[in-house]
Amino acid sequence: MCGIIGITSNKPVSSAIINSLKKLEYRGYDSAGIATLSDGFINEVKSEGRVENLEKNTNIKNMIGHVGIGHVRWATHGIPNTINAHPHSSESVSVVHNGIIENSTTLKKYLVSKGHKFKSQTDTEVIVHLITELQKEKNDFKNSILKMLNQLEGSFALAIIFNDQPDLIVGARRGSPLAVGYGPNENYLGSDSYSLKSMTNKISYLNDGEFCIVKRNQIEFFDVNGIKLNKKILKLSSNEQNYDKGDYKHFMAKEIDEQPITIQNCIREYIDNINNDINFYNFPWKMNDISSVILIGCGTAYHSCLVAKHWIEELTSLDVSIDIASEFRYRKNRFKKDNLYIFVSQSGETADTYAALDLCNKNNMKTASIVNVIESSIARDSNFVLPIHCGPEIGVASTKAFLGQMLVLYILILKISYLKKDINKNLYIEKIKSLKELPKLVEKTILTENKIQSISGTFTEAKGSMFLGRGLSYSIALEGALKLKELSYIHAEGYPAGEMKHGPLALIEDGMPVVVLAPRDDYYKKTISNMQEVIARGAKVLLITNKSKEEVVSENIWEKIEVENTSYDLMPFLLTIPLQKLAYYSALKKGYDIDKPRNLAKSVTVE
Ligand code: AGP
Repeated sequence: MCGIIGITSNKPVSSAIINSLKKLEYRGYDSAGIATLSDGFINEVKSEGRVENLEKNTNIKNMIGHVGIGHVRWATHGIPNTINAHPHSSESVSVVHNGIIENSTTLKKYLVSKGHKFKSQTDTEVIVHLITELQKEKNDFKNSILKMLNQLEGSFALAIIFNDQPDLIVGARRGSPLAVGYGPNENYLGSDSYSLKSMTNKISYLNDGEFCIVKRNQIEFFDVNGIKLNKKILKLSSNEQNYDKGDYKHFMAKEIDEQPITIQNCIREYIDNINNDINFYNFPWKMNDISSVILIGCGTAYHSCLVAKHWIEELTSLDVSIDIASEFRYRKNRFKKDNLYIFVSQSGETADTYAALDLCNKNNMKTASIVNVIESSIARDSNFVLPIHCGPEIGVASTKAFLGQMLVLYILILKISYLKKDINKNLYIEKIKSLKELPKLVEKTILTENKIQSISGTFTEAKGSMFLGRGLSYSIALEGALKLKELSYIHAEGYPAGEMKHGPLALIEDGMPVVVLAPRDDYYKKTISNMQEVIARGAKVLLITNKSKEEVVSENIWEKIEVENTSYDLMPFLLTIPLQKLAYYSALKKGYDIDKPRNLAKSVTVE
């Protein structure tokens, strides 16, 4: 949820740190700060809001140190202001932190009793005073680090500099991601590979409990007991080239329009065009070893699990359940050996999803992950990884990654269904052929949706809206509501269309915008009658259906959008597009920051 960077070099580091912080802003942007060390003095500059505010701070030009750390914050403890911004420093030490120190209150009491004075409301500041207190004991440096880490409870990724250690940075990881990067006469620490990519493509990752001492020409790694470790140096994939917006005003707009390409790329990765087959090169299990699938994710990723549940029920003989990661990790789960747990996560760093994975690993369960960042913690710690290949998704509101998650889930389910003989070869090949048509259909659907911009104003002026659907469309209704909420800060609720009469119908009042997703599937007639119920009570209905000669049976629809025709299975991909655009244009009308909505972050690495 926060972003960390550290650089130790043979030249001044402040501008490189600032540039890396800009790449980390998707992780949090309440405040930002930097600290460098020169001639035994720690210089610290912090600012509220975006990194550009920090960059404008006149004190930055005085930061001449060759060792430094930086941070972008998503507030967990303490309001977003300059005092609570990281780094937190004393004369002898400066710390940046991502995570939550769960025993900070106890530690603070102890440190105050030792005479320490606290400036901020953060949990992080206890680390500064704890180190300062331990330095009085004149322990060997490495052991004092170990002693400090052992007194912390909770999750952290840390980068620490010391006034009496002129060229090093200490990094430590427990529960929040941390990577090191290898450069020419300099080395780096960063929350993720994305923040380091512009400086190096050679990366190592710390695992939970490990810490490291990073100097400009040497990096040492240690395990939880202070025993030295050797770490593999990974070469980062260089296929993710342009992170910029190109001609687009926002990353989100670009990422919506990229979807035909990203879907095509993903299909190309998994579908064997010659043999009309699906390739999972190293699927580690036999089909007979799997009788139940449990799908786990958060937010939009969870919605892709909801869609997949329908496909598994329709296409396979497997039992299937889904869960929100933050619920699953505390549930009394029944871990059975023939369960397969599938974790869906764009970032691969979501703390709740990672914790759920860790719980399954601890119970020796079969684990697979569907991620967009193949170097991520969730990918590294699951038995089997299925990348979605949609390139970096920078907009906090997930769009192309959602379609990518659904696509990989669908491809996996098709393959399992065929291998378990739940569908025959003809149907398997027919579905693969339909799938190959999807990129073109997505493109047509994207191109036809200019009506959305004109009607989005009705949603921005309303005090709330509802999104209704049945079956697969109910899952997409939830996703559409989430998009509108997180981008335009307006209340929107996704609801099963058949459930409205059990209470929420009371919400409907004159002029209330209601989106009804009703493709011409088996639920169509029922959903249309649910639509009549809300129209009769004054709702302004935006009906989203698919093209058909058959007229829709209702004269009072406010607006209608018809997406391209495709199979029942693949309709969720097309229904999603107008909803992404609706959320985008609603936020545009409100003048909000579309790529970085308030209070949110792209990767939620705290629980
Ligand atoms: C989606 O628009 C949101 N940004 C959010 O719900 C997101 O899907 C969720 O935080 C999960 O993130 P992940 O896919 O990186 O695990």
